[in-house]
Amino acid sequence: MTDADSTRPAPPGCPAHGGAIPLSGLEFQQTPSELYRAMRRDHGAVAPILLDGDIPAWLVLGYAEVAHVTGHDELFARDSRRWSQWASIPADWPLLPYVSPQPAVRFTEGAEHQRRAGVITEALEAVDQFELALWCRETAEQLIGSFAGSGEAELMAAYAHALPVRAAVQLCGMPARGADTEELVRDLRISLDAADADDNPVAAYGRVQGRIQRLVKAKRGTPGSDVTSRMIAHPAGLTDEEIVPDLISVIVAAQQPTANWICNALRLLLTDDRFALNVSGGRLSVGQALNEVLWLDTPAQNFIGRWAVCDIQLGGRQIRAGDCLVLGLAAANTDPQIWPEGHVGAENSAHMSFGNGEHRCPYPAPQLADVIARTAVETLLERLPDVVLAVEPAELTWRPSIWMRGLTSLPVRFTPSAQ
Ligand code: HEM
Repeated sequence: MTDADSTRPAPPGCPAHGGAIPLSGLEFQQTPSELYRAMRRDHGAVAPILLDGDIPAWLVLGYAEVAHVTGHDELFARDSRRWSQWASIPADWPLLPYVSPQPAVRFTEGAEHQRRAGVITEALEAVDQFELALWCRETAEQLIGSFAGSGEAELMAAYAHALPVRAAVQLCGMPARGADTEELVRDLRISLDAADADDNPVAAYGRVQGRIQRLVKAKRGTPGSDVTSRMIAHPAGLTDEEIVPDLISVIVAAQQPTANWICNALRLLLTDDRFALNVSGGRLSVGQALNEVLWLDTPAQNFIGRWAVCDIQLGGRQIRAGDCLVLGLAAANTDPQIWPEGHVGAENSAHMSFGNGEHRCPYPAPQLADVIARTAVETLLERLPDVVLAVEPAELTWRPSIWMRGLTSLPVRFTPSAQ
């Protein structure tokens, strides 16, 4: 990328000028940090990229630039109907679940967003974090009990994914156990991460919607002390058509990133000598590992996205009204502009892992996620104190996703025990 390139006007509606980089491929899955470094070196803080099917967009790699984009909703907005590329998007485009406009909080703006996000925030604020921790511990022990006797386990499916999704549905007022809950947990997994050829994510998502609709109806009749009932009772007066997609947003947003947070922290604890020395009972180490993951191996590595409201300059690039910007959260966290000494990561939480600005992960969701993740990791290390990886660290494989950073599997072994 030369200076001349950066000043050359982009063809209308096409951020692909100047050697756009396909945002896909093995490198993104295995060593994305190296790729982000190379992109930043070659393209600067805002890089032209190609999404699936060569759809052009921008990847915002700079910390200051991500903060600017997320801090200025009036310039970089959330409603994807602004996108200038819709005419090129096929009906079966794999990213449609992330970008197609939905009647959910994530796609609302301005006063409407404040209304919807305010209801979620207040409903989550009333969660008793002490009770949540106790509940998570009990559930973690049950999950561990299901594999403790065998001396080996695959922790991604059996634990890291299983705990947050149960926590999320329980927070929303569904029974922690039972056929209905198990069915919802299974359908959420299929709709987010169809693993088998027989899985039908669209049908599974339809069943999730149906189940949540029934939950909202039931809670209207018989309210309880849960997130759903508080959303229904909120003076903002949300309709069922608003509450159902927002509840699904809460459950999905809680499940995927928290599962990967647990997984990436466990991987760090089990592979890095700095932590391995005093893993068992080392509560301080668990906290440090969780925080280090948010800086260096963040669960939501890229987030789509924002849509430019008008023609505007960003990071030396000419962005056109209707362009799509992908937030490079992992790249922003490791931006050399904020780590000039080369040492990346800090004990504070100034990372971009929960987003920033109006649409950031709503307070107190990051605290609830911390309770879930911390309890999951601590309980596992306490119950299985000699747990080790069952494969070489280099054999661990990452999910084929440019959005979520997490392992496909985390095989471990330990001394079998009766729980
Ligand atoms: C209990 C767990 C969680 C809940 C209930 C939750 C809930 C939500 C909700 C409802 C939104 C949409 C906000 C809006 O559009 O106004 C959101 C956004 C987001 N969340 Fe969370 N979340 C949780 C955990 C996490 C974790 C563990 C991470 C990553 C480490 C994360 C990262 C994000 C990001 C990056 C966004 C998007 C911000 C943006 O659009 O700029 N969340 N979350």
